[in-house]
Amino acid sequence: MKRLAVLVIAAACSNGSATPQPRPKDASVADANLAKLATKDLYVVSCAPCHGVDAKGYKADHAPSLINPTFLESATDEYLQRSIGLGRPGTSMAGYSKAIGGPLDDAAIARLTAWLRAQGPAAKALPAAAAGDPARGAPIYVKTCQKCHGDQTTRGEGVHLANARFLDVATDSFIRYAIVNGRPGTPMEKAKLTDAEIDDVVAYVRSFGKPPEAGQLAPPTGKEPLVINPGGKDPQWKLRADPCPPAGRGQPACKEDPRFVSIDQVKQALQDKRKMIIIDARPASDWMRVHVTGAVSIPYMELKRLDEMPKDGTWAVAYCACPHHLSGIVVDELRKRGYKHAVVLDEGILEWHRRGYPVVAAPGVTAPPKEPVMAPGTIP
Ligand code: HEC
Ligand code: HEC
Repeated sequence: MKRLAVLVIAAACSNGSATPQPRPKDASVADANLAKLATKDLYVVSCAPCHGVDAKGYKADHAPSLINPTFLESATDEYLQRSIGLGRPGTSMAGYSKAIGGPLDDAAIARLTAWLRAQGPAAKALPAAAAGDPARGAPIYVKTCQKCHGDQTTRGEGVHLANARFLDVATDSFIRYAIVNGRPGTPMEKAKLTDAEIDDVVAYVRSFGKPPEAGQLAPPTGKEPLVINPGGKDPQWKLRADPCPPAGRGQPACKEDPRFVSIDQVKQALQDKRKMIIIDARPASDWMRVHVTGAVSIPYMELKRLDEMPKDGTWAVAYCACPHHLSGIVVDELRKRGYKHAVVLDEGILEWHRRGYPVVAAPGVTAPPKEPVMAPGTIP
């Protein structure tokens, strides 16, 4: 049963593909001074792991296209900047703004916004949305939208519309425009609904809203001790490997790489006071929201603290939300530095948090919505 759960999550996160995703070739570029990077390189280092090098999305997790024409037509610069800066708490989209502990200043976020904008149409004035009736919208939403967009408690494969930050940045006209025009080339088709029905659905989506969380933990000082239980015994992991793709013509030989440790084993090791290092690979703003108890913040784009890692064989477990992409960058970098005992937390922190395993959380932060459970092959 456990194994099935892992498979479902892994499939949701890699958009159905079981093959390991290629990662940026040189993670040490992530150590470069971010302000000095050309905008395209800044994008590749910080955003491409999920939104893809071409910004068309679905490299990892549910990360949508950032340059779909109907998206750029309806998203103002403010929408883009606030989405990048504040993220979508409870999903793998972190807040990147320095103001909340992220790695990017306003100038860098403005550059990224302009770079995305340059790859599609300008934002245009949107038709106003009329007031709809959420009670009439509810059954339409359940029938036509929910399988892809989820509800307050469970997410789908599409953008999570019940996310408080989404509802905070998106106007009714923005939501309406997406329903009327769809997102060409994606599973988001133009709705076959009347104008009044669309207004009702918008009103229903709006009714998911609750105020975004306000509280945050203090930022990491960079002095938090790396090693948990320094006097403890080493943990004994049973590691999982991704299966190699079937060998064949043109298929390079593949050696299975046991690099994933399950959340159950790590939770047990914490309980047994085993010696280890737990690395939170997400932007620090996410660590300030909620992190695994004892985890240090070493974000995938700011790897400086890896220089302090002890070279005595201490096990290091890196995690992120998706659950493999950002932690994978940190583990690859550690292995490149000759650190053999570096592994990825298999199911990631969202599942850890959902199961109620030990975390340090800011006030008001609750467990993320459930992942959709879908039959194989039905991922849109
Ligand atoms: C770890 C994966 C990950 C990384 C890295 C990431 N994103 Fe995202 N991003 C997501 C996901 C997932 C969503 C959608 C949230 C949801 O599922 O509801 C998203 C949503 C967004 C949105 C809102 C899109 C919409 O349709 O409303 C914008 C804009 C965005 N990301 C820009 C960026 C930029 C720019 C970067 C780099 C600075 C970045 N993201 C880095 C995963 C990521
Ligand atoms: C088959 C799956 C599917 C169905 C059904 C569907 N959507 Fe979507 N929707 C998506 C996907 C995928 C995206 C993101 C596309 C992209 O990458 O640009 C999206 C995007 C959106 C967006 C824009 C979100 C953003 O942040 O940019 C809104 C709003 C939306 N859908 C609302 C709805 C509503 C309301 C319905 C029902 C009338 C609906 N969708 C039906 C899959 C679906």
